Amino acid sequence: MKLKKITNSPRVLLGMFFTRLGHFVYSYASRLDKDAEAIFLNYGYADANLKLELRKEDAKNRYCIQLYNHIVASLPVELKGLDVLEVGSGRGGGASYVARYFNPGSITGLDLCRKAVTFCTEHYAIKGMSFVCGNALNLPFQNNSLDVVIGVESSHGYPKIKRFFSEVDRVLKPGGYFLLSDFRNKNSLDLLREQLRGSGLKTVKEEIITPNIIKALDLDSERRENLIKKLVPKVLHKPSMALAGVKGTAVYKSFVTGKKEYLVFVLQKPLLR
Ligand SMILES: C[S@@+](CC[C@H](N)C(=O)[O-])C[C@H]1O[C@@H](n2cnc3c(N)ncnc32)[C@H](O)[C@@H]1O
Repeated sequence: MKLKKITNSPRVLLGMFFTRLGHFVYSYASRLDKDAEAIFLNYGYADANLKLELRKEDAKNRYCIQLYNHIVASLPVELKGLDVLEVGSGRGGGASYVARYFNPGSITGLDLCRKAVTFCTEHYAIKGMSFVCGNALNLPFQNNSLDVVIGVESSHGYPKIKRFFSEVDRVLKPGGYFLLSDFRNKNSLDLLREQLRGSGLKTVKEEIITPNIIKALDLDSERRENLIKKLVPKVLHKPSMALAGVKGTAVYKSFVTGKKEYLVFVLQKPLLR
């Protein structure tokens, strides 16, 4: 009875459709994207004052990279030599950027999608970087073993977000940092803050970067559209554009109208409890 009620809701059905489409895109990107052109799956970050210097091969992914740069720059410590985990690493572009530009001691990308992990393992050869298949809700790492955990645009779909936050708290060393970058409906932001507080992690910084996300989508929509037209079967163009946040789509509009906000949190595991 309850199930019937849930599946009758058009909003829930639409959400389920996009979750499934997301899994399809992440799973089959390896087959469709033979030249590894789509190694990022985030909305990007733009700022008129930011002139990030990038190597030639990274320039096409400027806005997606700038999102990673922004969250790493929000850390009160240097990443150099630290042990880092990225949860929901997707096609590995972010972990690769962090490994090459910030020299952590190690970086592990973890993702639920086996095909994405296989792609990353075969595609990248960077010292100290590895990829594992796993679930954010059950991290395959020892207690107190990591200096920094990063999560970029992955947590919004987790069925048990409190479980994820408690897993991050478990695997971080005392004093370690959690960088969370994701979007939520504006009316659920207080709930998110409460869930983070409940994890035991201390919020060091909270920033709303929705204007930077909109600006990035404005500047990057044409590239996204062209990539989708090149890689994705025509029947899936429209929903893929929506998933990619292309200008004019519902997701893009929800940022513009303020229905959704995009946030960056810097949290720290207390040294003493
Ligand atoms: C929108 S993509 C972002 C990928 C990457 N962070 C980036 O910015 O390019 C979200 C990723 O989270 C992964 N994901 C979703 N649920 C997960 C879970 N429970 N555990 C681990 N990864 C998950 C998906 O497979 C996907 O690769």
